Amino acid sequence: MESMTRLAVLLSGRGSNFVAIADACARGEVPAEIVLVVSNKPDAPGLERARERGIPAVAIPGKGIPREEHERLVIAAVAEAGAGWVCLAGYMRLLSPSFIERFPQRIVNIHPALLPSFPGLEAQHQAWAHGVKVSGCTVHLVDTGCDSGPIVLQRSVSVRNDDTAEILADRILEQEHVAYPAALRMLLTRPWRLEGRRVVFE
Ligand code: GAR
Repeated sequence: MESMTRLAVLLSGRGSNFVAIADACARGEVPAEIVLVVSNKPDAPGLERARERGIPAVAIPGKGIPREEHERLVIAAVAEAGAGWVCLAGYMRLLSPSFIERFPQRIVNIHPALLPSFPGLEAQHQAWAHGVKVSGCTVHLVDTGCDSGPIVLQRSVSVRNDDTAEILADRILEQEHVAYPAALRMLLTRPWRLEGRRVVFE
């Protein structure tokens, strides 16, 4: 039997990617267990969605305290839960180098564009406004930059003439829910290595 990896999910909002990962774990498609959900926003709906599933969920507010102090609290919660991997799922904060060094190549993020195009906020709107004909989503390992780490998996979405940024974002989100569990499954079940910034699966 494959051993269960313990995941912590960090989010700031709705939590639909968290739900996609949790459901894939429950179906046995990702050999992992989500042991903790952390939100920097106390009112994030994702916290409630975690609790409904019986997954421990805590708010660790980022406002009003220094970044090092906030991250110290998040790292302590993740360590106490025994998580070896950290999944960012709509976590709208940049992690400091010391956080990233604590989980080398074990922090994963999803971004709603085909990186390296359109990093940062409102990526779907950026892509739509730029007029690209294809966009999509990217699952990547997290490094110290903004949405700049090694790419694990991407899924593309065609942009239609009558799309609004919101309609495009909805279609990208559907692909995110496929891409994130698929990327985790690959990372956790297949041998892989980094060659430069390329993630190479054997
Ligand atoms: C998702 O679209 C995710 O790709 C995006 O936030 C949304 C969170 O939705 N993340 C970023 O933009 C990070 N740069 P969710 O809370 O329903 O998973």
